[in-house]
Amino acid sequence: SAPYAPLVRRIEAEATVIGDQVLKIDHFLNHRIEPRFITEMGGELARRLAQFEPSVVLTAEASGIAPGLVVAQALDIPLVYAKKYAPQVESPAIARVIPSPTKGGETKLVLSQRYIVPSDRVVIVDDFLSNGRTAVALIEMAREAGAQVLCASFIVEKRFQQGHAAIEALGVPLATLAQVEALENGRALLTQPAD
Ligand code: G4P
Ligand code: NA
Ligand code: NA
Repeated sequence: SAPYAPLVRRIEAEATVIGDQVLKIDHFLNHRIEPRFITEMGGELARRLAQFEPSVVLTAEASGIAPGLVVAQALDIPLVYAKKYAPQVESPAIARVIPSPTKGGETKLVLSQRYIVPSDRVVIVDDFLSNGRTAVALIEMAREAGAQVLCASFIVEKRFQQGHAAIEALGVPLATLAQVEALENGRALLTQPAD
């Protein structure tokens, strides 16, 4: 995907890098949200996703909901989010258990089959792609519900981790706004916009 220059500039100027694995842009994406900027990013992802003629955006709570919502709004389609540990999800439901590297332990993702149906054309939206276990689980759950998955899209992709290959191995194309090639010496090295 082509880097989105406004996001690349902000990551280079403002991100905190923790070790060689974690990029923090909490102040505009993961903890504090700037509505104008996230709406611009959602609009840009929506332009790239429109060609797939999706019927629904699928994400996972919690940090996928804000980007998922702005993309869904731009495309004028619903947003569905998989719930984490949701004993009361309307049945029938589909579930996957994935390790939670940021919180420790395991996370259960649950998706009601009322909200993803076989006629759906699904696009995945999330904030970060790292090893992709969340995205792979979402793709598998949508397919288990009988739906088609047309694209997986992310605000930030960490290219030095395994997520990109894992999603391609499922035959799903990717769309991302910023591609982090490496984190080193407290700095993020990003793919540069062409302009
Ligand atoms: P994984 O296969 O390595 O587990 O990666 P995955 O892409 O599934 O991401 C796991 C979690 O870690 C996600 O949040 C994701 O947003 C977060 N994450 C991964 N890399 C980074 C990073 O560099 N910076 C930040 N800020 N977050 C990162 P989650 O655990 O699902 O939790 P939630 O925040 O959505 O509740
Ligand atoms: Na997330
Ligand atoms: Na997160």
